[in-house]
Amino acid sequence: MLSWEEFNKDDADLASTLATRMQSGFADQANDGSTEAAQEAANRLVTAMQQQPQAAPGKHDQRDYNAIPVLSPGIEIPAIIEHEQLAASAPLHPVEQALRAVAAIDPAEGAAELAGAAVRVTVDQKAMINCRADLNQLVPFKYDWAWQKYLDGCANHWMPQEVNMNADIALWKGETGLTQDERMIVKRNLGFFSTADSLVANNLVLAIYRLITNPECRQYILRQAFEEAIHTHAYQYCIESLGMDAGEIFNMYHEIPSVAKKASWGLKYTREIADPTFQTGTLETDQTLLKNLIAFYCCVEGIFFYCGFTQILSMGRRNKMTGTSEQFQYILRDESMHLNFGIDMINQIKLENPPLWNDSMKQQATQMILEATQLEIEYARDTMPRGVLGMNAAMMEEYLQFIANRRLVQIGLKEMYPGAQNPFPWMSEIMDLRKEKNFFETRVIEYQTGGALTWE
Ligand SMILES: [Fe+2]
Ligand SMILES: [Fe+2]
Repeated sequence: MLSWEEFNKDDADLASTLATRMQSGFADQANDGSTEAAQEAANRLVTAMQQQPQAAPGKHDQRDYNAIPVLSPGIEIPAIIEHEQLAASAPLHPVEQALRAVAAIDPAEGAAELAGAAVRVTVDQKAMINCRADLNQLVPFKYDWAWQKYLDGCANHWMPQEVNMNADIALWKGETGLTQDERMIVKRNLGFFSTADSLVANNLVLAIYRLITNPECRQYILRQAFEEAIHTHAYQYCIESLGMDAGEIFNMYHEIPSVAKKASWGLKYTREIADPTFQTGTLETDQTLLKNLIAFYCCVEGIFFYCGFTQILSMGRRNKMTGTSEQFQYILRDESMHLNFGIDMINQIKLENPPLWNDSMKQQATQMILEATQLEIEYARDTMPRGVLGMNAAMMEEYLQFIANRRLVQIGLKEMYPGAQNPFPWMSEIMDLRKEKNFFETRVIEYQTGGALTWE
């Protein structure tokens, strides 16, 4: 076969060399039993090229370069050439092969993948799960909340490098800037979050994306997946800026039990539906998907992130590790949206599929949220053996119970920690759903005018 190096040589004899090799190549193939059609096509192409010896390709001559692969008038491309045939006819010029492959495309092929979807989509046909309408047609919208969240997410794009880390670097590398307890909090949280967002991203693209059968929701899921990549980038950026041992931090979810247990708890829900043979469509499998959504949106993003967020944001309020805190604040803004999107999806699926939300499912969902709360309480105890930053493990426990009550109510379940109060009212300025819109709009304005985030 003619190499690209040979092809690019500015050689006046190239056309005849090419023609000779093609004839030789096809003669060999004919001996091997290649089809008459391929042989005939090769002969006609060789004839055409021999009639155009002046069309040898020059490195810098676009007109000559283009002349070689184009068939002479009157030379027909065979109607159908299988890819196996194309591979067998290797001496053909690559561009000629492409021309033939394009000519052979049958637009009807692939229709089977879109079975039942050959008509224009109406809103009534759209559904969160088990939808048969064409998922490649974004409009007409059915779930405006999903599309709006996609637009809002895009309007709040940010990158980790935009945050100034200089003060953090000086503080982290100084001898006396942080206590040992404060240093452990920074390391533990970077350890947990540096892999947690990858687990969330994997769950999105490898597990739930194909099972959520609505294009506007998928549009947001893709946006969310990118945001998770940015979050992982942000943690990596902090780790690198502070000169930490990246291996130690990134491997923490294998080495530190309070981190490892949270990761392990989430992974089992990904495993259930990431199998390519898993399909929704029965009560049991639809409930399995619903449990995955509750696990990741309500529990992983809605509970597992909250001790760490509170600790790091508390540092920022005390003018410590302000760059890291700013990164976390941008991430928290994204995560608030992820959580709300997930809750909207869960409730919409319940609405469209009432049998799924039976007593057994309610009991399992409640159990999942309670397990996640307990895991986060253990994480709080591990990361705060003593009081630090104006908080301690007992206060965090009550805060997590307060958060858990909200997660339960948000998906229509009963509170399990009656009377739990929020000991960190300053966090509600950021996390309170009723204030989120204001928070969100404020951040949009600040970000777009280049202003720094502020600590109330
Ligand atoms: Fe994230
Ligand atoms: Fe997230």
